[in-house]
Amino acid sequence: MSMIDDIEKVLFSQQELQRKVNELGEQITRDYAGKEPIFVGVLKGCFVFMADLMRAVNLPCQIDFMAVSSYGKGTTSSGNVQINKDLSYDIAGRDVIIVEDILDSGVTLNYLVGYLNNRNPRSIKIVTLFDKPARRKAPIKADYFGYEVPDEFIVGYGLDYAEKYRNLPYIGVLKPEIYA
Ligand code: IMP
Ligand code: MG
Repeated sequence: MSMIDDIEKVLFSQQELQRKVNELGEQITRDYAGKEPIFVGVLKGCFVFMADLMRAVNLPCQIDFMAVSSYGKGTTSSGNVQINKDLSYDIAGRDVIIVEDILDSGVTLNYLVGYLNNRNPRSIKIVTLFDKPARRKAPIKADYFGYEVPDEFIVGYGLDYAEKYRNLPYIGVLKPEIYA
């Protein structure tokens, strides 16, 4: 059995994703002209998106990462956010851009924004590749997003199901029997 036999359908191809990520990078480049933002990626799901995004940004910048967990092996948020890895840099006075793979209930980002705000950055904005607004539980909005997606669990391009499928180069939906 190969990994791609588990995919029911492809939602966004590699080419579509690349074009969208380039657009987001250009938007950020324009909006932050003259500034030096720090991108804070939320591991692990962000890593593919962030690698492409930062190469589409033509600005001096830094990157840092946080690791949080709110999901176990399932497909719904536990509502419980735990910090597994904190920042390595001081963000006081900095323009912070949080990089997320997907904004779902918003519980994770709501917690993170509060947490990072306590460190007195100059600004905090959120960029997410995917947004599932129908599932929002916390009062969080993305400043930049790639695609709105329906309430379907998606994998690939960094996003996992039970820690698998992050290495798919496109975004897909799994066959129902995989979740069973
Ligand atoms: P939230 O706190 O509910 O917004 O959780 C956001 C996190 O849940 C994302 O960073 C993902 O790690 C995970 N997540 C939410 N929806 C999906 C999905 O459709 N596929 C894979 N991971 C998802
Ligand atoms: Mg995840």
